[in-house]
Amino acid sequence: MGFFSKDIKTMNDLFMHGLQDLYYAENQIAKSLPDMIEKATDPQLRAGFQKHLKETEGQIHRLDRVFELLDADAKGEKCPAIDGILKEGSDLAGEIDDEDVMNIGLIAAAQAVEHYEITRYGALIAWASELGRNDCVPLFKANLAEEKATDQTLTALAERRVNPEGEKKSANGKKPVKRAKSTARRKHKSQGRPTKAKRNGAKKARRRA
Ligand SMILES: [Fe+2]
Ligand SMILES: [Fe+2]
Repeated sequence: MGFFSKDIKTMNDLFMHGLQDLYYAENQIAKSLPDMIEKATDPQLRAGFQKHLKETEGQIHRLDRVFELLDADAKGEKCPAIDGILKEGSDLAGEIDDEDVMNIGLIAAAQAVEHYEITRYGALIAWASELGRNDCVPLFKANLAEEKATDQTLTALAERRVNPEGEKKSANGKKPVKRAKSTARRKHKSQGRPTKAKRNGAKKARRRA
């Protein structure tokens, strides 16, 4: 895209720009994942990243196929959004000096990437359909399904923290968020209102009087 001209004039231009943008993004993600694999010490997280690196390579091949279908050269368009997301993740990891905290930071950084990809594939599917390029849609959908599954796996890994093992690890003396919430709810519900046992006791006392 030039600085002095507006190169995107049609829906087709927008579609091609989005495709090239995502092609660049997938290639940058494939370059970043080995570093994330190296930093992850949690075996499941590491395995998840390894699996997703293979998937990402397959996704790039699917995008190559889309370019073929469109009779266009496979090329990327610099995407400042993914550059920023990946840089933030790597800068954050560079600041963390604890294995457990590192794994949690990596999960959050990876989910930011997946969410970005999910929005982009959603747009490309809609635009391809609008342009009558239904031949491209299954390829985008296959990539989108892998991004969504990866996001769910990462969520499950993050949620493992809210379990008895995770509670033991909260060494700051505070109760975990979930328990704190339910305790607060119980307190709130009972505020100013005697319990059923107390009410029954009071009734009996009145009868005896
Ligand atoms: Fe991807
Ligand atoms: Fe992904």
